[in-house]
Amino acid sequence: MNDKTKSDFQIIQSHANIVEIVKSYVPLESHGKNYFGVCPFHDDHSPSMSVSPDKQIYKCFVCGATGNVFNFVENFLGVSFLEAVKIVADKVGIGFTVQENKEDLKNKKYYDIMNLATLFYENNLRTNLGAEAREYLHKRGITDEIIKDFSIGLSLKENKALYTLMQNKKIKKEDLDALGLIAEGETGVYDLFRNRIIFPLKSPTGKPNGFSGRIYNSDSNSKYINTKETIIFKKRENLYNYHLAAPVARQEKQIIICEGFMDAIRIYASGIKNVVATMGTALAKEQIALLKKLNVKVIIVMDNDNAGELATISLGESLLKENIDTGIVRLTGKKDPDEYILTYGIEAFKDNIKNPMSYLEFMNITLRKDKNLKNPTELTTFINEMIACLSSATDELLIETSINKLVEEFHLDKELLKSRLLSKELLTNIKVEETSPKENTTKTAKTNNKFTRAFKTMLYYMMNDTDCMRLFLHYQLNLPKCKYRLVSNNLIYYFELKREIDFADYLTFSEEYPEVNEVVREIIRDVHISEFTPEDAEAVLLVIKDILDKQKIEELKKEMSKELDVNRKKKLFESIIEIKKGCVKNDRD
Ligand code: CTP
Ligand code: MN
Repeated sequence: MNDKTKSDFQIIQSHANIVEIVKSYVPLESHGKNYFGVCPFHDDHSPSMSVSPDKQIYKCFVCGATGNVFNFVENFLGVSFLEAVKIVADKVGIGFTVQENKEDLKNKKYYDIMNLATLFYENNLRTNLGAEAREYLHKRGITDEIIKDFSIGLSLKENKALYTLMQNKKIKKEDLDALGLIAEGETGVYDLFRNRIIFPLKSPTGKPNGFSGRIYNSDSNSKYINTKETIIFKKRENLYNYHLAAPVARQEKQIIICEGFMDAIRIYASGIKNVVATMGTALAKEQIALLKKLNVKVIIVMDNDNAGELATISLGESLLKENIDTGIVRLTGKKDPDEYILTYGIEAFKDNIKNPMSYLEFMNITLRKDKNLKNPTELTTFINEMIACLSSATDELLIETSINKLVEEFHLDKELLKSRLLSKELLTNIKVEETSPKENTTKTAKTNNKFTRAFKTMLYYMMNDTDCMRLFLHYQLNLPKCKYRLVSNNLIYYFELKREIDFADYLTFSEEYPEVNEVVREIIRDVHISEFTPEDAEAVLLVIKDILDKQKIEELKKEMSKELDVNRKKKLFESIIEIKKGCVKNDRD
């Protein structure tokens, strides 16, 4: 960078107030001399990012993201540093020209051609020749405003309208060929897209790199034709509308994914801008990575048919394996989100989005659909399929509650189901763990793991909610010595001082105790819960209590077997009974 640009940066930065710029993307609240907000750079549910007007920096207490105003925009919007500088410059009203990066420069020629083609198609739609296509779009509720927002256009009936234009602009045939815009047959060169409504496809940073063309007044046997793989269009790296959806998704902490781009357009035009479309194919790992990068909940809303159900199962499983928070919505009554919204309205659609199922709930409903569960063979198949599903899940509490539901509904033996799940897991892990520990050790490890998860969840509740803190104190658990107990003690101390819980304030408080603070960060990083009730907290407390009780009983049993004094033996036995009574009572509650 030369001296001139350097001083440009400084001038822009001195005019920009980081608080105002960050606020335009993420809500902030003032707290002392700093501002706090939910961090957009990890799956955060509490205000762990602070923004300092004095230092002009932002810093996330949990994931460690930090930087100046340019870095914030760069990371938030997923743009290059220079693009971020330009965005900030625009916001503060200072002119700044972006230098493009190498990759862009290399492909600039191709992007320029795609831009030109887009403008050409857009213009066609506005001419007399576009009247019928416009009428088709308007009938489908695609207004002129939507047409403009999505750069929708029209390819003409003529054989080579686009090719002729490009020739006049001295653009080489090879380049048009490389971009999949033309083809060559016996009659010579012709445009690939003819007499179709054109939907430009854009790269994750918003550059047109391909097209999809839809029939509107003919019955060609392919409803859509799409750009082939080209030097700038890689299907597996694109999601329709990603560039517009990503910044909104980061703000809303959620993204909707549907099948058709007409669905995405309808949803977007109805005001829900955090929406992308798969364009009817199973997602490649690059596309899953685009979703994962957002660090937000993914709501799957596929078509209301068999193919849509299969797509939901497959996408849901991929997301579960990637540990991406996933919600599933199945619409009823209409074929796809587009038709659903046109018939029942956007509010009805929003109601669906607000109440998604978890993947496991969805599988529970789907797997039992065509089965007669009164028939033992079909019931066994169903249970086995559910167990297979559960073995992809990583959340111990989720697994526990799902198993409990099955046990309750079908009056099954819980230990049996658990051992099935365990053997499924062992089967899938067998290759990784060559020196696989004995079943017994695995069981202990699993219990420990479950205890840790439950404990961390409980601590998370406690540092967020005064009622949960009170509930914890009410239970008077005798916790084992470990790093998590350090946090609970520290929280109790904080609560005694302040008499109420304030998350942001507690974070600052815990900074004075480095060894506690480290565990607090770990908890916030690992626990992903956006909403919870005191009932949830109570359920987790019961899991903890249950494990502690069982451990205590084991200890007492050991002691009893060694004890020779009959009276003391009797005392120990009574203690065991007392604890067991408590367990039974809780089981019944
Ligand atoms: N698709 C395609 N080629 C086809 C049919 C579909 O490439 N012949 C892709 C398109 O990207 C489409 C997606 O698959 O958006 C979903 O297909 P479908 O549900 O049939 O399309 P809709 O979105 O419902 O389109 P429309 O409402 O215009 O019929
Ligand atoms: Mn449709």
